[in-house]
Amino acid sequence: MKIDLLDPASFANGHPLDQYHWLQENAPVYWHEEPDGPGFWALTSYADVADVGRQPLLFSSEPTVMLPDPDPANGDLGGGDHKMMLMMDPPQHTQFRRIISKEFTRGPAAALRPRIAELSAKIIDPVIERGECEFVSEVAGELPSYVIAELTGIPLADGRELYKLTEVIHTAPEALAPGEQLDAVTKMFAYAQEVYQRKLAKPSDDLASQIVHAEVDGRRLDAIDFQLFFMLLIDAGGDTTRNLVAGGLYELIRNPAALTEWQAHRSDELDTSARDELLRIVSPVIYFRRTATKDVELHGQQIKAGDKVVRYFGAANYDPQKFEQPDQLDLHRFPNEQIAFGTGTHVCLGQHIARVEIDCIFHEILSRMQNFALAEQPQWLESNFISGIRHMPITFEKHSKY
Ligand code: HEM
Repeated sequence: MKIDLLDPASFANGHPLDQYHWLQENAPVYWHEEPDGPGFWALTSYADVADVGRQPLLFSSEPTVMLPDPDPANGDLGGGDHKMMLMMDPPQHTQFRRIISKEFTRGPAAALRPRIAELSAKIIDPVIERGECEFVSEVAGELPSYVIAELTGIPLADGRELYKLTEVIHTAPEALAPGEQLDAVTKMFAYAQEVYQRKLAKPSDDLASQIVHAEVDGRRLDAIDFQLFFMLLIDAGGDTTRNLVAGGLYELIRNPAALTEWQAHRSDELDTSARDELLRIVSPVIYFRRTATKDVELHGQQIKAGDKVVRYFGAANYDPQKFEQPDQLDLHRFPNEQIAFGTGTHVCLGQHIARVEIDCIFHEILSRMQNFALAEQPQWLESNFISGIRHMPITFEKHSKY
């Protein structure tokens, strides 16, 4: 079996299940060569991926959670005083996460439901009569960018523009024009700087104002702290949810019996188990890296201090040791301890909001549309980090009961 989890081509049609299963059976802690780097340990078993996330002192998020080490020429900040929360360890991480964590708990997320339901209906309104649409840009991508814009207190249209930049930032540099990625990062920071100035002068009750005026260890966050925080929110909250929604519909179209059954027998119970199963099957985040801080043994492999240890969430979600018939979509699967949102200290802060978004948009899709078909084969993002469909024209009919 040829193992290559670096080549975006391995993810060109979704998760490489053949590679994952070979690794799970033969080398769940696998030394993966890296042409431009020292190599890394690829973790593909559910237990290891979950456990490593719970041991931040042994498996650090610094200097980065991406595979390549930070490269300032590419716009990566890495090192120095300023970091994204995603790339911090406790106790600093705990302090930063605390600034906004209250807004992301289950209660406040549930309170957003009526507004998210309203936005979801507005997204379907313009396409419903047409019987066709480019599902990714016209439906799946709209909601997350609107929700994050509302949370941070910026205009909805700006949310959409920023989300386009995110997509460029997540694309493999080889697939872009020279300088395109750096340009996208620069634009994102410039926009964040404007927001910082605005919210500094005139705070309101949004997250951006809260971050601008937050203090850590008696020090007010500065413009760069804010830019990084803002970028994390736009970035983390945008294309992950979009890819879940587009990838989820794709899986349903490929499994028409499951889709028909879900549409015919909607219930809170089925909506919940179906959503968790779509999270498992789609697993929008491919990996996050950690770096070992000490020598440690894992599954008989000697990991050295300083080695990169990479958690493959998609692989964990397809681990046969954890899930029965993992390659099969089963909307009734229960229990379903999928880990698309990660585990441990950095577990997805936006998970409750993401669940509300997924529920609301699928409610609109399932109750107002039917007889979905692919108008063309979907095109996937060229990325070894984010698994997602970037273009998926579909046809559908208006639901007969609507
Ligand atoms: C289906 C949608 C989503 C998926 C699959 C997802 C996945 C993830 C994953 C895997 C992590 C890292 C966990 C780890 O290291 O163990 C993460 C972190 C994070 N996510 Fe999400 N996410 C989603 C939606 C969102 C949304 C909607 C928001 C914001 C509104 C958000 C905000 C964040 C933030 C701020 C972090 C960093 C947390 C930290 O460093 O403490 N995510 N997410």
